[in-house]
Formats: sequence, structure tokens, C-alpha cells
Amino acid sequence: MKAAGIREFGASVELLGLPEPRTLRPDEVLIDVRAAGMGNWDEIARTGGWDLGVRPPMALGVEAAGFVAAVGDQVAELRVGDRVTAHSLPLREQGAWAERYIAVAPHVAAVPPDIPFDAAAALPVPALTADQTIGDALGVRPGETVLVNGAGGVTGGMLVQLAAHRGATVIATAGPDSADRLAALGAATVLDYHRPDWPQQVRALTQGGVDAAANAVPSGSARTMRAVRDRGRLATITSDPPAAERDITVRAVLVAPDGRRLGRLVQLLAQGALTVSVGERFPLEQGAMALARVGHGAPGSAVVLRPGPVTERPGGPAALPGEHGPQRYPASAATASVVSPARPGGYSGCGMAMTRRPAAAAERSPLAESSTAAHSGGGQPSAAVTAR
Ligand SMILES: NC(=O)c1ccc[n+]([C@@H]2O[C@H](COP(=O)([O-])OP(=O)(O)OC[C@H]3O[C@@H](n4cnc5c(N)ncnc54)[C@H](OP(=O)(O)O)[C@@H]3O)[C@@H](O)[C@H]2O)c1
Repeated sequence: MKAAGIREFGASVELLGLPEPRTLRPDEVLIDVRAAGMGNWDEIARTGGWDLGVRPPMALGVEAAGFVAAVGDQVAELRVGDRVTAHSLPLREQGAWAERYIAVAPHVAAVPPDIPFDAAAALPVPALTADQTIGDALGVRPGETVLVNGAGGVTGGMLVQLAAHRGATVIATAGPDSADRLAALGAATVLDYHRPDWPQQVRALTQGGVDAAANAVPSGSARTMRAVRDRGRLATITSDPPAAERDITVRAVLVAPDGRRLGRLVQLLAQGALTVSVGERFPLEQGAMALARVGHGAPGSAVVLRPGPVTERPGGPAALPGEHGPQRYPASAATASVVSPARPGGYSGCGMAMTRRPAAAAERSPLAESSTAAHSGGGQPSAAVTAR
């Protein structure tokens, strides 16, 4: 089968011809991959900094969506032909950037027919990480103030959405171009991280610091700590936990596979309470280019690899109508407004904030931004895929 991967740690991603997957073990599911997600965590895996459980030569990739092609003897809850998404580690055989991917059944979640595979493939790592950070590591409660440092990225945007979904007032740091998008995702206040005094701005806005903070910026957690109140909580997803101070609880989060939780996040996506934006899409043959585009395309939009044309039915026709142009899910999302109303206790009128959930955000959904995003020569045109 075709795969995108590496011959040795640190080598460039290339197209590999790998043997077909072996016979399944009792707890395994074989996924006929239609789309596989990418993030800069894959760059860490490429260079050997994240042990995925197998060694090169190997397909990379830790998240994928597609159809169940076969199940092991003990798998009762999934059937051949089901639409699924998965983040399954340690890898049982090969990574997810391949035509077929073996996942462990408890790491797999069903995907409703109206969620496109691109969106389902881009969801698992960012959404699981964000949920494990906001829910488990920080235990965010309604009415609390939460800072998300590095909210402009794919995972950063999920942190904002899930904190807002829990009823928190969210302060985000991001670049100026991301401000309106993050307001639409639920941030009450967006501060420009290019201003080095943003932690002081947060302290001033919150009379002493936020209750909880999530850091999504490499080497950014020490600065994030300055914006947390005494006895508050800090969680970082970039492996840089600072020494504890002022009785602040510090946690480092590494994404953990969890099919049940992933299923709940898929449901949030289906309900429109969570959005994932997909930017550029590349075939497996262009895996190296795709990885180089991570973080350089439309801000907050994921890059997706596709082993072949996406078909929504097993063995179905090659491509859906509109497949090669911008896609929106659902179609009505083009006119969707901000999901979360402005919360009481926000920071309206503070001159330091770049934005405070502007009314214009209602017309500027992340869909609209992503769907017009530039794309590199190799990839297919950008498509905004969201469940909002
Ligand atoms: N621990 C885990 O299991 C786990 C899981 C997922 C991700 N991660 C890590 O979390 C980090 C973020 O992931 P992601 O998916 O959100 O990445 P991403 O999509 O590549 O996000 C990059 C964004 O970060 C923002 N940014 C860059 N420098 C910044 C700074 N100094 N201060 C504030 N924001 C800054 C930029 O926002 P603007 O465009 O607004 O400028 C940029 O768009 C990555 O390092 C990733 O490896 C860890």
C-alpha cells in the first residue's frame, strides 16, 4: 500500500510502498483511510522526538478518518463500512498517513454521515488535547476566567472553544489577524502576543490574574504563569512546565488516545458547539510539502493528507460534487453567527484588548476566512470544513 513516511528519523517524508496490513488482532480495527490529519507534532515524530511505538522505515501520522474495512474477533461495537475517526497510539503497525491504518477499537469513534472525512481526520489530536487540558488538567468551571496563550493555532482554537463551552470567560493571545476569528470561537478578549506586556495586561484585566491558563506556545509557559493568580492553575501542552510558584498548580499535558471522549467531541462537532477548520489538502505523494505547510497556511486551519479522492461510501464514486472547491459544513454555516453570546463579566471597553467579541465576528465565521485562504501550488484548494 501507499504511505507517506520516513526511512530513518530525521529523513524527509517520502512516498513509501509498504506491505498490506497484517491480519488483525482481536481488539483491532482496520481503517480504509480517506483523510489523515497533520500537525507540528508530526514534525516532532519525524525527527524522533516523539516515540510512536515503531521505528522507521514507517508511515507517519497519528490521526485518520475513513471506513472500517475489517474488525478483530473481539470488536463488537464497530462494523465493516462504519465511518470512523481515530487517534491510536502506540502504533500497532504503521502510521495513519497511509491507505490503511490499524487502530485499537477503544481509540476509535464513530462519525455521523454529515461530518466530512477531512474534518473528522483533523479533529482527534487537537480536540483530545484541548479537552484533556481544559477538562482534566485545569478542571475549568463555569464563571472562571481562563487564559489561552497561543490561541491562534488549530489546537489553540480548540482550547478557546472548549473553555468557552464550559462557561468560562476566555482571554486569548494571538496575532492581530486571528483576533476576529477567535472572538467568533468564544474568546471574550484577544490580546496581541507581540506586545511583551500582555501578561501584565491580563493581570490588569482580571484584578490579579486568571483562575486557569493553558499554554500552547513552545517555551511559553513561564510567561503564561505571570498571568495566573495566586493558587491558580496552569497547564502546558508544549512540554515546558515551569517551576511552581505562588501555590499555582502546574500540569503538562500529552495527548492520550480515548475513543469514548473522541466520540463526545465528534458529537460536539455535529451539534455545532465545536468547529474545526481544514485548509490545504494534499495527496500522500506530497507528504513532505504538506508537512512543511503545517502552521504556514490559513491561520487556525489544519492540513490534511488524502490517500485518494474522498468517497463518502465504501467503493463509491471518486469524488463528491464540489470536492475540489471550497467545502462548508453544514452549508448553512456560511451565515452562522457567533455561537456563544457575549458573557457577563467580559472585559468590554478595556482599551488594552484588541477585540472583545465584535459584532462583526458574526459575519466573519472561521468558515469565511478559511475558504478564501491561499494555498500552495501542490495542495488542493483550501476548504473550510466545520460543524458550526
Ligand atoms: N502536548 C500535546 O499532546 C500536544 C497536542 C497538540 C499540539 N501540541 C503543541 O501545541 C502547540 C500548538 O499547537 P497548534 O495545533 O495550535 O499549532 P499551530 O496550529 O501550528 O499554531 C501556531 C499558532 O501559534 C501562534 N503563535 C506563534 N507564536 C506565538 C507566540 N509567541 N505567542 C502566542 N501565539 C503564538 C500563531 O498564531 P497567530 O496566527 O494568531 O499569530 C500561530 O498561528 C504546538 O507546539 C504543538 O506541537 C501539543
